Amino acid sequence: MKAALISLGSTSSKWTAEAMRKYFDEVVEIDIRHIEVNIGRDGNKVLYKGEELGKYDCVFGKGSFRYAELMASITSIYDKKCYMPIEQGSFTIVHDKLLTHLDLQKHNIPMPLTYISATVQAARAILQKVNYPIIMKFPKGTQGKGVMVADSYAGASSLLDALDSLKQPFIIQEFIETDGSDIRALVIGDKVVASMARRAKGDEKRANLHAGGKGEAVTLDAHTKKIAVDTAKVLGADICGVDILESHRGPLVIEANISPGLQGITKATGVDVADKIAKFLYLKTKDFVEDKKDKKTQKIMGDLGIGNGKEEKKQLITTLDLRGNRLLLPELMTNVTKFNDKDEVVLEARKGELIIKKF
Ligand SMILES: Nc1ncnc2c1ncn2[C@@H]1O[C@H](COP(=O)(O)OP(=O)(O)O)[C@@H](O)[C@H]1O
Ligand SMILES: [Mg+2]
Repeated sequence: MKAALISLGSTSSKWTAEAMRKYFDEVVEIDIRHIEVNIGRDGNKVLYKGEELGKYDCVFGKGSFRYAELMASITSIYDKKCYMPIEQGSFTIVHDKLLTHLDLQKHNIPMPLTYISATVQAARAILQKVNYPIIMKFPKGTQGKGVMVADSYAGASSLLDALDSLKQPFIIQEFIETDGSDIRALVIGDKVVASMARRAKGDEKRANLHAGGKGEAVTLDAHTKKIAVDTAKVLGADICGVDILESHRGPLVIEANISPGLQGITKATGVDVADKIAKFLYLKTKDFVEDKKDKKTQKIMGDLGIGNGKEEKKQLITTLDLRGNRLLLPELMTNVTKFNDKDEVVLEARKGELIIKKF
């Protein structure tokens, strides 16, 4: 089986590709920056360095929010043609914290109270009624860079002026007191395979490793694990890092990451996460390929009129052939039913339905 890993070539991606080579026959590393998608009259095409990207059994796309639209286009074109751990819709939703929260809320996944407003005046009104400290963040930031903390209305108000002059969309979020720590749960399929607690450095409030946070392994309780797995499921990602704050109300999800860094969590937990991802991708791809083969065999058998002995029902979606006012059924139906012109049959019909049974 052949797999493609589309990424920016980070260390985490290199580790993943390396691990995938233990399972797949061929793994091609593709630099997302050389990809072009053409959507045109003669079909949609993914080009890599100007050449059409070939056929793969598995396509794993990674990359930051800057490439969300491109990844969504690639997954749309490869849809149903191969196994992909990240669904098309995931790319646009997961890279936006506001859209993520909207989706999670619909599925009753707990999260901090979050506000969005249309104008600066409306945001100021929100800031007047909230408790401090408060978090303000860019929906598309990563690595802690777009997260700001305001301790008072005065502080929040000047942040607001700065955000307004930048013309940047932002969300306002209830500050969850955690002593500057958060939890990263790495979900693969329906399991949390590794989890760590990250603690911010000094007075820093952001626990991201890139912001100087330190990670150490934690064991999550079943409830927190379920929240992490459900989050990944709702967002359509088989591989997903879920960031959680532990509050007195229980675990609250703050974001999901479909291109999670592997170095920090591997070091903190000692789990070979890259290998777990690679093995999972291999097994899912194998299922996908076998399923496709099964469907193909079933179709050939159906076309030849050879049942599988279990008298499984065959379905054919087609338009009707009306000769005059008479129905002419496809030959495949004769083959599958093995009806012949000596058979007596019962015809049962009502509006929109017809059943023909041997008498
Ligand atoms: N509502 C919040 N309350 C308290 N701390 C928060 C909150 N939101 C984010 N943080 C802190 O900031 C860090 C980064 O926030 P996050 O939403 O995960 O964005 P990023 O994409 O930058 O990682 C978190 O790991 C956490 O330590
Ligand atoms: Mg985060």
